[in-house]
Amino acid sequence: MKIKRLNGLKGTISVPGDKSISHRSIMLGSIAEGTTEVHNFLQGADCLSSIACFRQMGIDIENNGDIVRIHGQGLHGLKRPENTLDTGNSGTTTRLMSGILAGQNFDCTINGDISIQSRPMRRIMTPLSLMGASIESIRSNDCAPLKITGQKLHGIHYDSPVSSAQVKSAILLAGLYADGETSVTEPVLSRNHTELMLGACGGDVHSQGTTATLRPVKRLESQKIIVPGDISSAAYFMAAGLIVPDSEIYIENVGINPTRDGMVKVCQAMGGNISLENVRDVCGEPVADMVVRHSSLHGTVVEGDIIPTLIDELPIIAVMAAFAEGQTIIRDAAELKVKESDRIAVMAENLSAMGVDITPTADGMIVNGGGAPHGARIQSHLDHRIAMSFAVAALASDGETEIIGSDCVNISYPTFYQDLFKLAE
Ligand code: S3P
Repeated sequence: MKIKRLNGLKGTISVPGDKSISHRSIMLGSIAEGTTEVHNFLQGADCLSSIACFRQMGIDIENNGDIVRIHGQGLHGLKRPENTLDTGNSGTTTRLMSGILAGQNFDCTINGDISIQSRPMRRIMTPLSLMGASIESIRSNDCAPLKITGQKLHGIHYDSPVSSAQVKSAILLAGLYADGETSVTEPVLSRNHTELMLGACGGDVHSQGTTATLRPVKRLESQKIIVPGDISSAAYFMAAGLIVPDSEIYIENVGINPTRDGMVKVCQAMGGNISLENVRDVCGEPVADMVVRHSSLHGTVVEGDIIPTLIDELPIIAVMAAFAEGQTIIRDAAELKVKESDRIAVMAENLSAMGVDITPTADGMIVNGGGAPHGARIQSHLDHRIAMSFAVAALASDGETEIIGSDCVNISYPTFYQDLFKLAE
């Protein structure tokens, strides 16, 4: 994909459904009783991996593109899959599903693509093993493929060393199958969709501060779920509206759960003209429309408790930093190294190629903005968020940018390029 500078992005955009909530709708719908109806389900490759895995375990899932219907079989209704469960590129499918599989009465193997096979699974293997699970890394490298042999589980309290919703959710989902109470405390609160959705379908879960506690229940009830637009997808349009001169973009129906909304705060801290309208509640999640106007940005420091609320947005924040006056420092974000790619190294490689002054650090990066980034050959490393971040950077840079492996946006946002270029028409 080759992209050149554009001016004046104008119009209204509705981003696709939230990836985290879409995954959870499949998992909870499969183990609830009755039919869960999901509107605005994200039809990205990651969420389709979740659908495929639960179909392999005997769950009837109808996907007509607009509405997904999951015919749940109850907590004990999954069937042993005949083949390896393929989680594709999806860390969420791999880790959350492992929590469910740990408590089944069958054994199975899960594996994903080359990126999944290098992502750390020890972080779920340790707490699930403490609950009595049998979960083994087949190559003994703490990565997938994983062999999980379902066991009778018991509740634990787990002090998680990382603020990770995937770790927290794997433990809570295993807790549905455990004797007694299961609780997780994390250093900083991570996204809480699992807790909210479990609560909505009859789970006994409560949260206090950074601790979530779950007691097993006999059954979960099916729900109608309306998935809000994904703030992690909206982030590219927020950034584009701010850095492309003469832009004004209206982004409709964006989830603004406070465990996810750090991007809005950082845009505002950088001097971005971005405002929220029509704040409302949709199926227990706060949702708003956003108005974004071109702004002169300045550098900021992104660190501490805000990091988990914008962890997936740090690549596009680094792009904004390149177009902002002065220095931006991102720290406390070592987790970036274990995402779909090493996002610290990959941002440094690609922003440097565009002539940006960027220094990678052990837990983030320092960007000295205010130069005039120029087009370059960008290696996406097949990381969807890297490809989308540099598509936005390209719109405000001199010359032409080529994104290698640009199709990987399919993972979370199949119509990304069409939606972006529509704003320039
Ligand atoms: C996710 C949690 C985050 C995020 C990922 C989706 C989730 O990962 O990066 O894209 O749906 O729970 P971690 O929990 O590993 O931080």
